Amino acid sequence: MLRGRIFYRGEFVEAGIEVEEGKIRRVGKLVDGRKVKGVILPAGIDVHVHLRDFEEKHKETIETGTEAALHGGICLVVDQPNTKPVVDSEDIYFRRMEVAKKKAFVDYTLNFALTNSNCDEIDIIVEKIRRKYYLPAIGEVFIQHNNEDLQIGYETLRKVVSELQSLITLHAEDPEFVKPGFPNFRFRSREAEIRAVEKALKISSFHFCHISTKDAAEMIMESDSTFEVTPHHLLFSTEEYARLGDAVNVNPPLRSRDEVEWLLRNFHRADVLASDHAPHTPEDKKAGAPGFPGVETMYPIFVFLATRGVVSFRDLVEKIAANPAKIFGFRDYGEIEVGKFANLAVFELKNVEEINADKLHSKCGWTPYESFKAIFPKEVYLRGTEALECGERLGRVIETDNPV
Ligand code: DOR
Ligand code: ZN
Repeated sequence: MLRGRIFYRGEFVEAGIEVEEGKIRRVGKLVDGRKVKGVILPAGIDVHVHLRDFEEKHKETIETGTEAALHGGICLVVDQPNTKPVVDSEDIYFRRMEVAKKKAFVDYTLNFALTNSNCDEIDIIVEKIRRKYYLPAIGEVFIQHNNEDLQIGYETLRKVVSELQSLITLHAEDPEFVKPGFPNFRFRSREAEIRAVEKALKISSFHFCHISTKDAAEMIMESDSTFEVTPHHLLFSTEEYARLGDAVNVNPPLRSRDEVEWLLRNFHRADVLASDHAPHTPEDKKAGAPGFPGVETMYPIFVFLATRGVVSFRDLVEKIAANPAKIFGFRDYGEIEVGKFANLAVFELKNVEEINADKLHSKCGWTPYESFKAIFPKEVYLRGTEALECGERLGRVIETDNPV
């Protein structure tokens, strides 16, 4: 189907990819195909996006959020359940999956919310969901964001872990150290993250979302748990306040320059790169809403950084594709390998652009990465079908309600 410089088993090789029924049948030097300009990388998996929709369609919808994902070289998203209403029952879960079936431009999966109200019956609900869909994880546990029902305690977590066989993703910030205030990096201390991780690790293994401190990262590295880093915690420090102004709030907050530099230097030791795509309108941001959009810019910024040697292509591909697939159980995703889906993103490495919010596809209409250099994919293949050509979307190619 395609020939070119393919990232295959940890290195670039000049080879062809043959595809049959959406899956890779052969990869090899003798396999013929249309020659593409640029490098062929596995399309990314973003395991942490907030696509809003439901009662917050003014911020983002599954349609606009997955369109942004596609333009950013992402083939599969894991959406978070802190929506309005919260995804805390099987009915709401099914309702959202039906929306995605009609509207999504890339493969879509959804975490389920553990709440104080549903924790006694969560095993029954999870069982019902699993009869119909692949459930990646119980998500957004501990979240400190305007909804007390989602802020479950350590004891509830302990009880649920002992009863439920599921990956659990934690937003680790201990409420004791979280105070309201703007800019939030002056009020939400690093202790909040470190203490929450310490306490959680005594309970069980988890997947930790958006880790922003050295101490928390090092504790997790020594455990069986896994963790994400986000582009913003790797690239922005509290010094960014001057530039971001009203938009600076994000949870966990931005950290000192030393901490940020340590995280970027230790990128190779993180498990996953995820965007925590959290679209809020500029008006919401002025009012202090926490979060940055990022699903479309993550892979392009990091491909650019890989061309400059800031990270290696090997680490990038591992954190953005292979590890997310392994940790979340997306069996047929994450690598250019025989038997996996032909989910491919083609990047022309000379094609460096400056990010401009007007050209992005999220409904929120702004980006914290304005003017940052990036290399956007001009071709994206979803299960062997071209979904993006010359940077333009080609209709809707996803036709399944259960991608994994
Ligand atoms: O900044 C954030 N915004 N962090 C989160 O953990 C949640 C997210 C949101 O939902 O807006
Ligand atoms: Zn989140």
